[in-house]
Parts: sequence; C-alpha cells; structure tokens
Amino acid sequence: MAKEVKTIGVMTSGGDAPGMNAAIRAVVRKAISNGMKVKGIYQGYRGLLNEEITDLSARDVSDTISRGGTILYTARCSDFRTAEGQDKGADICRKHGIDGLVVIGGDGSFAGAQQLAARGINTIGVPGTIDLDIACTDYTIGFDTAVNTAMDAIDKVRDTSTSHERCSIIEVMGRNAGYIALWCGIANGAEDVLLPEQFDFDEQKLIDNIIHNRKRGKKHHIVINAEGIGHSTSMARRIEAATGLETRATILGHMQRGGSPTCRDRVFATMMGSYAADLLKEGKSNRVVSFKNGQFVDFDIDEGLNMQKSLDEYMVRVNKAMTT
Ligand code: ADP
Ligand code: F6P
Repeated sequence: MAKEVKTIGVMTSGGDAPGMNAAIRAVVRKAISNGMKVKGIYQGYRGLLNEEITDLSARDVSDTISRGGTILYTARCSDFRTAEGQDKGADICRKHGIDGLVVIGGDGSFAGAQQLAARGINTIGVPGTIDLDIACTDYTIGFDTAVNTAMDAIDKVRDTSTSHERCSIIEVMGRNAGYIALWCGIANGAEDVLLPEQFDFDEQKLIDNIIHNRKRGKKHHIVINAEGIGHSTSMARRIEAATGLETRATILGHMQRGGSPTCRDRVFATMMGSYAADLLKEGKSNRVVSFKNGQFVDFDIDEGLNMQKSLDEYMVRVNKAMTT
C-alpha cells in the first residue's frame, strides 16, 4: 500500500530559472488543498544539510508568481553527492517530519532526488532549467522567459550591428545544449547559429559565409554562438582578422536567467508544481513531472535520467533554409 504523505518539503536546486517561484507557489497551494502541510527548504540540498527549513503557508507564497529568481534561494552542494550527505539529508527530512519532497531543478537535482527516494523519502522532480536539456520532458520551466529575454537582447545588438555594418557574435546560455541558440537563431533571423550538438569546428566555413553575405549586400551578420561552444571573444578576433569586417562579441550571460516569467512559464510552472503535489498525495515516489506530446505526465526518475534528447532536426533544417 502507498505510504500516506502528511508533510512535504519543497526546494529549488541547481541554476535558478524564471518560473521557479510560480512552481513553489503551486506546490504549496495544491499540497495544502490536498490536506498536506508544507515546509520550504532553503538553498537546495545545501540548505537541507544545514537544516534551513521553514513552514510555508498559502500566504507565504502570495505575490510571488510574477517574480524572477527563487524565494527559496538555490545552491549547488558537493556534499550531497556523497552517500554520507544523502543519508544525512534523509535523516534530516525524517527529523522534520518531511515524508515527501518536491525538488525543482535539472538533471543533477533529480539525481539527488533519486537518492532521497532510495532512502525512503517520497521524492518528485519538477523540471526547472532555462536550458531545456531534460530528456524526459518537452518543456522545462524557465526556457520560455530565457529565450524571450535573449531574443529581445539580440534584436538590440542587431540594431547597432546594422548601423555599423558589423559582424556580431552573440553567445547564449544552454550548458552543453543548443536549444536556446536554435530558438533564438530562428526568432532573431540570425545569419549563422552554432550548435554544440553539430559544431564541426570549421571556422573557415563561417568566415566564407560572412564574406559571401557581405558581397550580396547584407549590412550585418549575426552569429548566435551557444555557450557549449563558447570562446566568442577570440572567435570575433579571428573573424575580424580573416574578413576585414569589424566584429564584436556579446556574451548575454546571466541576464537570461532573470526577470519576470512569461505567461507560458507561469502556467507550466503552476501545472507542473500542482502535478507534483498530486503525485505525493497519491503516495508516489521517484517520479519526475513531464510535459510530453502535449500532456502532463510523469516518469520514473531512473527512466527519465536514462533518456536521450536531441535537437529537432526539422527545426535545424528550417533554420538553415531561413538563412539562405
Ligand atoms: P541541475 O539540477 O540544474 O542539473 P546541478 O547539476 O548543478 O544542477 O545539480 C544540482 C545539485 O544536485 C548539485 O549541486 C548536487 O547537490 C545535486 N546532485 C547533482 N548530481 C548528483 C548526484 N549524482 N547525486 C546526488 N546529488 C547530486
Ligand atoms: O543550467 C542553467 C545555466 O544557466 C546554464 O545555461 C549555464 O551553463 C549554467 O547554468 C551557469 O551556471 P552558473 O550560474 O553557476 O554560472
């Protein structure tokens, strides 16, 4: 028989993402409406190990749905990667009466959640990362806000790039994945998009393309470079030397992680956070909430972490066609 969960914890872990507050709010309010008590754990697994734990009421999450960042703060915690850290984490949960836990974060955070589940704490993962790089889900909380922020910034760089008839290398986040780069490439009409999944290190091809486009009258050349490839500043120097065109590098950086979440992120965060609270109410554990093929579903965390994700080839081809 499934274990009855009376008190749950909620934490955000790993890199923050816009919409995490909306997810926390949803977990809190849905859990309370399901008859459970909720405790907030500050600073992810680090806060768990330091017992940074507080009661959360429905009112404590008022006025948070529109706020970027995470009211529970977040952290990366190397101690939690060890068996001793995980044992201690499970003991602290039990000490505070936490028999269920929602972890909002990425793959790394889910690996931690898996360890707590193995130690008897009913644990559910909610995908929160701007990178969209979690294989078992088509959507991750924060991606939509991040690509919209990046898109706006790239539009602005493009204005000045055109005025000066320059080439611009714009680096976007995404860790080892090219989703943010590909979406911005399409949304901003970039001349070139460099994706870690496909990059062949053939810089000469890029240089030839820049020269070719200038010859056919293009006033700017926007290259979106994914963080997983990186080295945008040195790349800009080499391109300027090889093409004779003024070239500048702009690294968008952490601005992509901040800001008020978009409608899409708020709604997905609310749905996914609520779904997690429902799974705990049903006594489920070691599950990850997912949006797959247009529906909210859940997967076993072990299964989810073993899945592979690749860029949509059709999107890549469409983007290529748009640059001709
Ligand atoms: P994300 O959750 O965004 O992928 P990280 O990979 O940095 O971010 O992971 C966040 C935290 O999750 C880590 O700092 C660590 O505390 C925990 N974690 C990551 N991997 C593991 C693992 N294999 N086992 C236990 N805990 C882990
Ligand atoms: O996972 C989100 C992310 O912003 C990645 O895109 C990036 O590689 C990483 O986190 C940066 O981490 P930090 O904030 O620790 O520099």
